Formats: sequence, structure tokens, C-alpha cells
Amino acid sequence: MPEWARQTATLGLAPFKWEASVDPRIPSVGLVESKVFDPEGWRPDYPNPALDDRTEHDIRWGARIVAGFTDERYDVRVQNWIDHEPAVLYDAIISIGAFEHFADFGMMRAGRVAAYREFFERCHAWLPPGGRLVLQTNVKGNNVRMDRTTVRDLLFIADKIFPESELPWLSEIAEASERRFDVVSASNDADDYARTCQAWLDGLLANRAPATELVGAQRVADYERYLAASVAGFTNRHLGLMRIVFERV
Ligand SMILES: C[S@@+](CC[C@H](N)C(=O)[O-])C[C@H]1O[C@@H](n2cnc3c(N)ncnc32)[C@H](O)[C@@H]1O
Repeated sequence: MPEWARQTATLGLAPFKWEASVDPRIPSVGLVESKVFDPEGWRPDYPNPALDDRTEHDIRWGARIVAGFTDERYDVRVQNWIDHEPAVLYDAIISIGAFEHFADFGMMRAGRVAAYREFFERCHAWLPPGGRLVLQTNVKGNNVRMDRTTVRDLLFIADKIFPESELPWLSEIAEASERRFDVVSASNDADDYARTCQAWLDGLLANRAPATELVGAQRVADYERYLAASVAGFTNRHLGLMRIVFERV
């Protein structure tokens, strides 16, 4: 029986199938598992501005790309880039939201730049001359005047939400990529991320009860604080979102 029919027949009292899934205790995988998760039937139920604002042109563009995918054309791996050894060169590399984790909180600038340089060295080795590298990463914002609450909130995020992570300054990214990549374009889209975090926060607030049942009140409160502080941080430019296109030289 389809899920909607089960829910209608039981006036919504039947537990959802996913509620019976067993936590595999692999944090990077989360609660998704193959027995109850149906990828084709899955629909996001939280707002995503990038999808909500799509135009007919965007849909056709995406559909054309996806239609061109054959099994030989992609490969999905959970792997540290340090261990990655591709058999052939890539045409392009896109890195989204990982750079924040390449340096640890408390490292000095020289150590951070050295860690970032290692990443650029690898990307350089994996691309032909002229190959593009697209990097999206949160950065430290240039508004360094903060009140106590902001300082506490940002330390809370570093401590509780993203331990073993540190945000780069834009200059560190530029320094680490020097002599390996040219910058083709760079933009700070902090307002986009304020909007994204607000959408995530709205989704969490609207689902506070089931979220609490799933992970407990403390974890929900932590995530509400993290997301609200992020909205404020990006809006007030204590945080930034850099999207940089590099060209391998
Ligand atoms: C906060 S999540 C962001 C996920 C997603 N890109 C997004 O923007 O929603 C950080 C991601 O960075 C990846 N990551 C961090 N360090 C990595 C490394 N050394 N090699 C490969 N992936 C890494 C993690 O596996 C995780 O998927």
C-alpha cells in the first residue's frame, strides 16, 4: 500500500516506515539506509530557495545534463581527497562546503595556508592546463566588530557544531593557490547563505516536535541556535560565502 494511502486510512496515526530505521552510527552517512529509504519516492519537504526560484530554462538545463549521465560517466565515493588518485585527468573540479574542514580551529595562519596549499597542489595535479576549479566555502567576514552574543554564538558553532573546522580568510585562499591557479571570478554571496540558513531554520522550527523525538531537545536547541546565529552572521558580514572560479596554470 502506498504511504499516502496508509496515512489516509489510519488518519495519520500509522508510524512512517522511516521511523523504524536503525541508526547505522556512521555520522557522515546519517540515518539513511537502503531498506526503508526509497530514493525515487523521496521528495524534500523543506524549502530550498535555489529550487523554489527555478525557471523553465533552469529545469531544461538540468534535465539535459542529467539525461546525459550514463553509468560509465559517474562514480560516487566517500573518500578523503588526500587519498584520491584518479586514473585520468579531470576536465574540472567543483568543491562545495568542504574547504571549511581542511584546517583545524586554533591552527596558526601559516599552518592553515600550508593545509590549503596541499589541496590546491592536488587539484593542480588532477587538472590539465586551463582546467577549472570551482570552490565554494564559508570565510571569515570582514566585519570584525562583534558584540558579546555574536562572539559567544560563533564560538559555540566552532565548539559544538563544527569541531575540527576553521574558516579561512579570503587572503589565505589567494595565498595558498598562488603560482598554481589564476582567479577567474570571485564573489561573496553572504546574503544567499543567510537566506539558505533561514530556510533551514524555518524547516527545523516547523518540525521541532518530530526532530526532538528523533535526536532530543538539546540537539534541536543547538541547531536552532547555530542556524539563527548563522543567519545573523552572514547578514551582518561576520561571515562570508565565497564562490571562486580558478583556472589551472
Ligand atoms: C558541512 S558538509 C557540506 C556538504 C555539502 N557539500 C553542502 O554544501 O551541503 C562538509 C562536507 O565536506 C566533506 N569533507 C570534509 N573534509 C573532507 C576531505 N578531506 N575530503 C573529502 N571530503 C571532505 C565532508 O565529507 C562533508 O560531506
